[in-house]
Amino acid sequence: MVMDLKEKTKTESIYVPDIATITEIKDLTPTEKQFKIKIDDPVKRKNFNFLPGQFVELTVFGIGEAPFSIPSSPNNKDYFELCVRSIGSVSAALHRMKAGDKVGIKGPLGKGYFPYEKMQGNNVVIVAGGLGMAPVRSILLQILEDRKSYKDVTLIYGCVDPQSMLYKDEIKKLQESKELDIKLTVDRPDNSWKGAVGVCTNLIPQLKYQPQDTYIIVCGPPVMYKFVIIELEEKKYKPENIFLSLERRMECGVGKCNHCHIGNKLVCVDGPVFSLWEIKNLKEAI
Ligand code: FES
Repeated sequence: MVMDLKEKTKTESIYVPDIATITEIKDLTPTEKQFKIKIDDPVKRKNFNFLPGQFVELTVFGIGEAPFSIPSSPNNKDYFELCVRSIGSVSAALHRMKAGDKVGIKGPLGKGYFPYEKMQGNNVVIVAGGLGMAPVRSILLQILEDRKSYKDVTLIYGCVDPQSMLYKDEIKKLQESKELDIKLTVDRPDNSWKGAVGVCTNLIPQLKYQPQDTYIIVCGPPVMYKFVIIELEEKKYKPENIFLSLERRMECGVGKCNHCHIGNKLVCVDGPVFSLWEIKNLKEAI
């Protein structure tokens, strides 16, 4: 059978990563690092246009590959950032790498993204738990870069303890700027902690926005979703205006391994961002 050339090129491109260089590495917390990454080929770099909520499949040569969401602003055209917790062989190898080292990048991947166009002219609430702050940072930065297109914006961010909070310096500056309302909470406060104590779900009843002009974005550990949704539904926020990133269980990132299926959906291909309306009746989604 002769394979159609266009199809062959398409198939190969799924598996062949672009070579990229780590240009900067920053410690965000004791367990998370931020990597600034630049695709080497200038044409491919120019064509790497991602939407907030999309992800890449990163290859550490000789070790393996893994999916990572993109926390930087989609408006940065020269590079993108990844926030990586060292929990598996690929992420641990990445944590051992230095600026100047090469990695492979496939992407941007995923069809489902945070619908920033629909959210314009409305209030936006971002609810993030732990490492879930990384994927939502891209939409938060995008909103801040076009702040006048949105009504009020609230970030609710919960962590285990103050040390594990991502992007602390940025959050502090945003608190001072008053461009948005920021509500922080931790489970285990230390003596310096001045915010709320407990899970981020506890802060949702404080929201004053009305359902008709409010969009909600949610990203965090799987256990968080169910309780956040209960609180959001209690306040009558519309399921079609609630968007969740379901990155869990992704492996290949390109619809081949079937690890990420939920009902008839593949998170890596159909998501990773879904509206609550799309997935609320899918078993195991929440
Ligand atoms: S991660 Fe492999 S099919 Fe989705």
